Amino acid sequence: MLEFPEHGDRRGQLVIVEGNIDIPFEIKRIFYIYGSDADVVRGQHANLKSEFVLINICGRSKVRVKDGLGNEAVFSLNRPHTGIYLPAMVWKDMYDFSPDSVLLVLSSEHYDPNEYIRNYDQFVETIRKQLHLEERWS
Ligand code: TYD
Repeated sequence: MLEFPEHGDRRGQLVIVEGNIDIPFEIKRIFYIYGSDADVVRGQHANLKSEFVLINICGRSKVRVKDGLGNEAVFSLNRPHTGIYLPAMVWKDMYDFSPDSVLLVLSSEHYDPNEYIRNYDQFVETIRKQLHLEERWS
């Protein structure tokens, strides 16, 4: 989880997120998700290359992250100055959106559908192959 400083004064709050300073990559793309019902599950993919930071700038949601090796963790995104950093090659599900949820996503890459893995079994297989290759070369 990342905590961004709040630069608040009598006029309200200001949160600054600078690429390569507050988050560990240069920002090439932003998108945001809103209007998702509470029973919707979004994401459901892993990325070969893209790293992401997710910030619920309004409302709340949850993200479940899986490493493909049996480990998973759930994070609550419920404050406009708190984000989660997701490296490449993790499986992510976003869900439990509040009606007022606006989920801002910062990405290290431009959109390329070919670097999305949308099949969980294929994700696990790719993770295993990567680990196998690393073991062979270490
Ligand atoms: P999708 O990846 O399913 O959204 P999420 O992971 O947030 O649930 O994307 C929905 C559609 O939008 C899909 O057709 C791909 C397209 N899209 C782009 O064209 N560019 C983008 O940067 C993103 C995130 C999605």
